[in-house]
Amino acid sequence: MGRQEEHLNIMSIKNDLFLRALKGETVERPPVWMMRQAGRYLPEFMAIRDKYDFFTRCRTPELASEITVQPIRRYGMDAAILFSDILVIPQAMNIEVQMKPNFGPYLPNPVTDQKGVDEVIVPDVSVELDYVMQAIKATKELLNNDIPLIGFAGSPWTILCYVVQGQGSKTFDKAKEFCFTDPVAAHQLLQKITDTTIAYLKAKVNAGVDAVQVFDSWGGMLSPVDYQEFSFQYIQQIIDALKDEAPVIVFGKGCWFALGDMAKSGAAALGVDWTCSARNARYLSGGNITLQGNFDPARLLSPPAVIKKMVTQMINEFGKDKYVVNLGHGILPNVPLDNAKAFIDAVKEYRQN
Ligand code: CP3
Repeated sequence: MGRQEEHLNIMSIKNDLFLRALKGETVERPPVWMMRQAGRYLPEFMAIRDKYDFFTRCRTPELASEITVQPIRRYGMDAAILFSDILVIPQAMNIEVQMKPNFGPYLPNPVTDQKGVDEVIVPDVSVELDYVMQAIKATKELLNNDIPLIGFAGSPWTILCYVVQGQGSKTFDKAKEFCFTDPVAAHQLLQKITDTTIAYLKAKVNAGVDAVQVFDSWGGMLSPVDYQEFSFQYIQQIIDALKDEAPVIVFGKGCWFALGDMAKSGAAALGVDWTCSARNARYLSGGNITLQGNFDPARLLSPPAVIKKMVTQMINEFGKDKYVVNLGHGILPNVPLDNAKAFIDAVKEYRQN
């Protein structure tokens, strides 16, 4: 997309609070969206889930776009995030990924050695992941330029965690063992994932997403030194490649220790989880960059009146500018509908006091 076209694209979005907050502009109130906002707490999502398995939902543009706009219709968030998954990347790289009900991701043939790394391909994303681009186009039509659309990818480290471990884990011990015993092969794998992710996110921007978020859900498993070596240097490559095409948000769960480096990376905003206070996050990130977060997802189980009070307090702590209201991680399936509504409404009703 040319600069002028990009300009027109952003200008024509009716509610551009989110994009303005990412630029650090002064806003009437901060924008709000929720990680995993298209999910199992919504009855309309469950109705589609009952009929179609996970990857069918991801691969069918009509389904992916419908699921993406469901939470927007119900609550009117300030940004939509495309319904998909971070694991479509390893799938496209020739690694089988299944999504087992009540279990989560399962990779029957995990990569565990150099031979496995050699078999991993860097695909032509415009072919292998064309269905994602079609879903983006279908979603942009449904959104009618009312709000921006976020595209996302997992960080190379977080993808490696699943590709090596073969499933979710509390420790990702096998993924760490692989990195620490065969760092040469691990770095080759991380580079292949990085190259694929860069091409993928660029294609998503071309297809119409207005911003991208990199989810480093398992970055906090690493020590600060290992984080630089096995995670952040690859995220930095992604930021370098994308930042002139779309704003990049980096969400590293448990990665408060890296906020200082992230703030200098060229990212437009940094995600923060609920274990880091607003004050500390501002201090660690140098006070200038837009922050996003960080309501404890389990706090959405409190009564709506309590949620509203806590959200107002959270905005006062972060400050209304250079801030995107969000949860500190994905929304839980057992959150009552009225509680999610209280979270969004509290932001929309916010007035600086
Ligand atoms: O935020 C959104 O609404 C967009 C959709 C989205 C999904 N996955 C849909 C999904 C996003 C942004 C993701 C990202 C994702 N996927 C991450 C990073 C964010 C995070 O939560 O840390 C990770 C680690 C994954 C991998 C993954 N996908 C896991 C571990 C699971 C199973 C756990 C679970 O919640 O069931 C999934 C499945 C998945 N991805 C579901 C959804 C709505 C639930 C299963 C289903 O719908 O059948």
